[in-house]
Amino acid sequence: MTLAAQLLDWYYRNARDLPWRKDKDVYKVWVSEIMLQQTRVEVVKDYYERWMERFPTMEVLAQASEQEVLQYWQGLGYYSRARHLLSGVREVCAAYGGKVPEDEHMIRKLPGVGEYTAGAISSIAYNRRTPAIDGNVLRIFSRLFCLDGDIAKQSIKREVYRLLQKHMPGDCPGDFNQALMDLGAMVCIPRRPRCLQCPLTRFCEAYAREIQDTLPVRAPK
Ligand code: ADE
Repeated sequence: MTLAAQLLDWYYRNARDLPWRKDKDVYKVWVSEIMLQQTRVEVVKDYYERWMERFPTMEVLAQASEQEVLQYWQGLGYYSRARHLLSGVREVCAAYGGKVPEDEHMIRKLPGVGEYTAGAISSIAYNRRTPAIDGNVLRIFSRLFCLDGDIAKQSIKREVYRLLQKHMPGDCPGDFNQALMDLGAMVCIPRRPRCLQCPLTRFCEAYAREIQDTLPVRAPK
């Protein structure tokens, strides 16, 4: 089995049951990815469900007042995320006929959407083979391929991007990206990774060399 097949097989048996994974509606994916930018999964769950009850579609959200939208964000912090989300949704309703563009680069132009979020949205909602690289993914790949450069460096990110593009499956890239999120949260954790539970040890150079605890390398500031 390939690395992707092995990871997906594990994911379908172990994926976290999260409310935004119930369907792949692009608006729902968008809202969840913005909430998850600076807030932990466990906290986001309840906020996400309350939000979807009140603002189930882009059209409903676009009509709401900023004041009410901010009320639903209260407690999540970083309120500019909510303002950007509202203005982005209004923009999509007004300028794109209510359809979020499928192209990653167009998604990236929406307010509050960075490279990671654009990659997550286009892979999960539109099945595009777009990497979504965060600290979890950098950690996993630096271990898998023994990348011993400083993970704060752009060169490592570029290398991980290249490797991700190579290993990402054609049929379910969104599941692949979310599988990496779960692996990083539950198994390939920062300290004392749980290699005995890992579906990818067979592919992992760090595991083979028993140096998984020394990676990733983060140069002192
Ligand atoms: N963190 C960012 N996006 C996520 C997702 N879709 N599932 C779990 N954790 C995430």
